[in-house]
Amino acid sequence: MEIATLTVNPAIDLSFEAQRIFHTHKMRGDKERHDPGGGGINVARVFVRLGGTARCFYLSGGAAGAALDHLLDVHQLARCRIPIAGETRISTAIFEQASAKEYRFSTSGPSVSRSEWEDCLERLAQARGDYIVASGSLAPGVPDDFYDRVARVAAQRGARTILDSSGRGLAGGLAGHGVFLVKPSLGELRALTGDPLEDDRTVAEAAAALVRQGAAQHVAVSMAHEGAMLVNASGTLRLPAIAVKAASSVGAGDSFVAGMVFALASGRDIDHAFRYGMAAGAAAVLTPGTSLAYPADIERFAREGAVAQPIGSFG
Ligand SMILES: Nc1ncnc2c1ncn2[C@@H]1O[C@H](COP(=O)(O)OP(=O)(O)OP(=O)(O)O)[C@@H](O)[C@H]1O
Ligand SMILES: [Mg+2]
Repeated sequence: MEIATLTVNPAIDLSFEAQRIFHTHKMRGDKERHDPGGGGINVARVFVRLGGTARCFYLSGGAAGAALDHLLDVHQLARCRIPIAGETRISTAIFEQASAKEYRFSTSGPSVSRSEWEDCLERLAQARGDYIVASGSLAPGVPDDFYDRVARVAAQRGARTILDSSGRGLAGGLAGHGVFLVKPSLGELRALTGDPLEDDRTVAEAAAALVRQGAAQHVAVSMAHEGAMLVNASGTLRLPAIAVKAASSVGAGDSFVAGMVFALASGRDIDHAFRYGMAAGAAAVLTPGTSLAYPADIERFAREGAVAQPIGSFG
């Protein structure tokens, strides 16, 4: 089973720990890690752990880009690199041991030229599999409607697009041809609609409006420890989160998307996929730091989540 993932603005995720964080004085850190990062790459990592094949389409450039290419090889991810002139970014997460708090730093990423993003669309036209997962922010220079263009390229070969982005990437991806599935967090849906969405009913209405407009066939709104909501033409399914002792919520969204697309690509229906996504999200918060979900935890939570009762009732 093969899917494609797209990461327009990937990063090397650098993380380490320090006793205390100070200004001016040099701080010593340890437990240094380098991981390949960015939405689509994270989704691919979990999808591959589950036993599927995920080809990562991603833009990379400069010395950090070469290091990112190498990290994808280390993780044995099938990759299709679109070279760019700019320098791939490095995102940093520092865990302060004294406070048990994590500080995360990220930059906007390199500028991408028109010929580079056009090259990306051309390469994507050659992708295999029934699903393409477009996840993460748009790099500077990439047009707002880029994910809509991706959806059109996918549709031309009969593939479905799954979109997980924020800001202009999310808005632009929903403004045109429409995607199969979109996964906004509640905060992202609020920003998209400009509405405070204070209760489940208003969230359900906002998601249903996207379905009616043809922006997406399925909308999965993720609400961290409060669970998630799936809205489509058949109605609304609102499920509570699976009870788990949370270590770090980083990567829950990407693991959720990976779980959903894995179930869908395995031929399961959307409701099952939604529950499986929630199991993967819960499995991700179980692991500390930036670690993503592991299959044994996903399977265990999927058994629990399969019987979770919906909250409330929506037409
Ligand atoms: N503390 C938690 N307990 C149980 N399940 C959780 C928890 N946090 C997240 N999940 C599950 O994972 C899903 C996705 O999490 P979340 O809503 O935080 O995604 P996100 O905001 O996209 O995260 P990210 O920061 O990775 O982009 C949730 O809908 C829920 O099912
Ligand atoms: Mg997210």
